[in-house]
Amino acid sequence: MSVIKVHDKEFQPYIDEVALQQRVKEMAEQINKDLQGERPLFIAILNGSFMFAADVFKYLTIEAEISFIKLASYKGTKSTGNVVQAIGLDEDLFGRTVVILEDIVDTGKTLSQFLPQLEHQQPKKLLVASLLTKPEAMVHPIKIDYLGFSVPNKFLLGYGLDYDGLGRNLPAIYQLVEAGQ
Ligand code: IMP
Ligand code: MG
Repeated sequence: MSVIKVHDKEFQPYIDEVALQQRVKEMAEQINKDLQGERPLFIAILNGSFMFAADVFKYLTIEAEISFIKLASYKGTKSTGNVVQAIGLDEDLFGRTVVILEDIVDTGKTLSQFLPQLEHQQPKKLLVASLLTKPEAMVHPIKIDYLGFSVPNKFLLGYGLDYDGLGRNLPAIYQLVEAGQ
């Protein structure tokens, strides 16, 4: 793998395909052990998580369901600030074991707004599986139950993550080359 250019920026290899697949497989194996017999419902948050969600799901051997949603952000009232709304969530979560699939938890803002909405439906368990997180960027602390990699606060691309719409198709993860590097 070598440096690639997307739009106006350069990205260097960061996590190769083999390491990614290995880690995703380990995450799925842990989920297989933990959630055996619970018939969990996985909720993948589009667009970024589509590749991670597909790979995790392929490595699952337990009975499981999956649903894909999009989060739309709109301006709420002064007290609520920005509000996220789930588009496409038709399932009833009451009494279910639910696992959120995210590509990356960055500031934690998205999930800090979204998880309480799901809790409202009284799932039996509400778990979070995220391929990546940037601890230095976390403003709203989120408990991640299944984590792939903890990464520095630098912009990443590939395996579902985009830079202005491009790069999602890369099978590995790349890191932005910063000026002077
Ligand atoms: P949060 O609300 O700040 O946690 O935002 C998380 C969302 O921001 C992710 O689901 C991604 O879509 C996007 N994001 C955060 N960091 C990156 C990155 O390094 N590359 C591409 N997208 C990112
Ligand atoms: Mg996302």
